[in-house]
Amino acid sequence: MSTLITNIGELVTNAAPDDDPGQGPGPFAALTGAALIIDEGRVAWTGPAGQAPAADEAVDCRGGAVLPGFVDSHAHLVFAGERSAEFAARMAGTPYQAGGIRSTVAATRAAPDEVLRANLARLTREMLAQGTTTLECKSGYGLTVPDEARAVALAAEVTPEVTFLGAHVVPPEYEGDRAGYLDLVCGPMLTACAPHARWVDVFCERGAFDADEAAAVLAAGHAAGLLTRIHANQLGPGPGVQVAVTAGAASADHCTYLSDADVDALASSGPPSSGTVATLLPGVEFSTRQPYPDARRLLAAGVTVALATDCNPGSCFTSSMPLCVALAVREMRMTTQEAVWSATAGGARALRRSDVGHLSLGARADLMLLDGPSHTYLAYRPAVPLIRAVWQGGQMSRP
Ligand code: NIG
Ligand code: FE
Repeated sequence: MSTLITNIGELVTNAAPDDDPGQGPGPFAALTGAALIIDEGRVAWTGPAGQAPAADEAVDCRGGAVLPGFVDSHAHLVFAGERSAEFAARMAGTPYQAGGIRSTVAATRAAPDEVLRANLARLTREMLAQGTTTLECKSGYGLTVPDEARAVALAAEVTPEVTFLGAHVVPPEYEGDRAGYLDLVCGPMLTACAPHARWVDVFCERGAFDADEAAAVLAAGHAAGLLTRIHANQLGPGPGVQVAVTAGAASADHCTYLSDADVDALASSGPPSSGTVATLLPGVEFSTRQPYPDARRLLAAGVTVALATDCNPGSCFTSSMPLCVALAVREMRMTTQEAVWSATAGGARALRRSDVGHLSLGARADLMLLDGPSHTYLAYRPAVPLIRAVWQGGQMSRP
């Protein structure tokens, strides 16, 4: 069954050079007056609308823009409870601290599977309605072997991009025994979680895990067959980015406080397909009232930049990639093209995925139709529900 998507105002393709989808996304690229054909869940043709071959059915975009679906490469969706009081206190002047995570840990441990599954379903529906067709989902609010194993198993029900984050914080019952908790994370917890996960992550920050601890967690995860990513340099300067680059991590996330050496390390970490991406999470700075990361400095140095939501009940409870694009443009001075690339192709790079984040021939048919003629509308019309339709593997839904 093939579908012709036509009358597209602007078709953002991020097409790979020579349309070779095996390479993953290329730089930002867009066509006007274009059409696209989906066949068997893949992009089968793109080009000028007047030259489009016949298809079994057609969708008229009435001049709306079509973009690759967002790739949200950082989210914490397996949790129970909420922390709106903490948010309100923060807005009244209380600073964000890593310790708030523990209250979500208590609520999550107490919740039955069905409550966690329903919350996860609600958030993934919210994301899809806002154009997110690929999402990463972390554990990290269980912090016991059975609770973490349950979290990664639930996450695997909604995405292949599952991340084991047993090293989120040291839970209260291990307060005086950090080494004991790290042994648990790198031993029985990892063994229980690795079969359901593709990634291992660690929160490298004052109040969470230091450089040696973080490196040990990533090394253990790597030895168990997982790919590595990290929470780095969120609340202050620190060693996280260096740990990430040394470990060959796919992404260092947050990157709010970076030294020149951190920027250099990211810039020289390797080509986009195998280096370390800087994943910026501007919703966190919005929701914690911290300074935004310096995206221009990273881009000027040649670092690959991704944008993601970090959707979680503490530091940033938004599921909206359009909001992140708008914040990146308005607050971080990314161009609209850079922000859209980072939210699609950049996310794909951060997840080491070559099949999403672009609409080259053969790429997964993950795309969205905007109520607006160009990608610019995502930042130009902030907080407006602009997504008219979404295709996931060629399957269309209308929010
Ligand atoms: O990415 N930084 C660590 N983890 C989350 C926050 C989690 C929480 O506050 O519950 C983050 O910001
Ligand atoms: Fe996070």
